[in-house]
Amino acid sequence: MGELLVDGGRCQGHARCWALAPETFEIDEEGYAHVIPGRENSGDEPNVRKAIRNCPERAILERET
Ligand code: F3S
Repeated sequence: MGELLVDGGRCQGHARCWALAPETFEIDEEGYAHVIPGRENSGDEPNVRKAIRNCPERAILERET
Protein backbone atom coordinates (compact mmCIF):
# COMPACT_ATOMS: atom_id res chain seq x y z
CA MET A 1 0.00 0.00 0.00
CA GLY A 2 1.30 3.45 -0.89
CA GLU A 3 1.40 6.62 1.15
CA LEU A 4 -2.04 7.88 2.16
CA LEU A 5 -3.20 11.45 2.01
CA VAL A 6 -6.49 13.32 2.08
CA ASP A 7 -6.97 15.86 -0.70
CA GLY A 8 -8.07 18.96 1.18
CA GLY A 9 -9.59 20.40 -1.97
CA ARG A 10 -11.97 17.49 -2.29
CA CYS A 11 -12.78 16.57 1.31
CA GLN A 12 -16.25 17.79 2.30
CA GLY A 13 -16.24 16.42 5.82
CA HIS A 14 -18.41 13.34 5.40
CA ALA A 15 -16.29 11.64 8.09
CA ARG A 16 -16.84 8.13 6.76
CA CYS A 17 -13.07 7.69 6.72
CA TRP A 18 -12.90 8.40 10.44
CA ALA A 19 -15.89 6.14 11.17
CA LEU A 20 -14.35 3.24 9.26
CA ALA A 21 -10.67 3.67 10.12
CA PRO A 22 -10.30 5.86 13.23
CA GLU A 23 -6.75 4.67 13.81
CA THR A 24 -5.69 6.21 10.51
CA PHE A 25 -7.87 9.30 10.00
CA GLU A 26 -8.71 12.23 12.24
CA ILE A 27 -11.16 15.10 11.80
CA ASP A 28 -9.95 18.63 12.44
CA GLU A 29 -11.90 21.37 14.22
CA GLU A 30 -13.39 22.49 10.91
CA GLY A 31 -14.63 19.01 10.15
CA TYR A 32 -12.13 17.98 7.52
CA ALA A 33 -10.12 14.78 7.53
CA HIS A 34 -6.38 14.29 7.74
CA VAL A 35 -4.20 11.25 7.94
CA ILE A 36 -2.91 10.96 11.50
CA PRO A 37 0.80 11.77 11.53
CA GLY A 38 2.79 8.57 11.45
CA ARG A 39 -0.07 6.61 9.86
CA GLU A 40 0.64 7.64 6.28
CA ASN A 41 1.98 4.18 5.56
CA SER A 42 -0.35 2.13 7.66
CA GLY A 43 -0.17 -0.97 5.52
CA ASP A 44 -2.80 -2.85 3.64
CA GLU A 45 -5.46 -2.56 6.27
CA PRO A 46 -8.96 -3.63 5.28
CA ASN A 47 -10.40 -0.64 7.14
CA VAL A 48 -8.30 1.79 5.13
CA ARG A 49 -9.42 0.13 1.90
CA LYS A 50 -13.04 0.49 3.04
CA ALA A 51 -12.48 4.15 3.85
CA ILE A 52 -11.00 4.82 0.41
CA ARG A 53 -13.96 3.14 -1.26
CA ASN A 54 -16.56 4.86 0.92
CA CYS A 55 -15.46 8.47 0.63
CA PRO A 56 -18.17 10.07 -1.51
CA GLU A 57 -15.75 12.74 -2.72
CA ARG A 58 -12.96 10.31 -3.62
CA ALA A 59 -10.75 12.51 -1.47
CA ILE A 60 -8.53 9.78 -0.03
CA LEU A 61 -5.57 9.25 -2.26
CA GLU A 62 -2.87 6.66 -2.26
CA ARG A 63 0.48 7.74 -3.62
CA GLU A 64 2.70 4.99 -4.88
CA THR A 65 6.02 5.05 -3.10
FE1 F3S B 1 -13.47 13.88 3.84
FE2 F3S B 1 -14.15 11.73 2.53
FE3 F3S B 1 -13.40 11.54 4.98
S1 F3S B 1 -15.10 13.72 2.35
S2 F3S B 1 -14.03 13.46 5.94
S3 F3S B 1 -12.14 12.21 3.30
S4 F3S B 1 -15.06 10.42 4.04
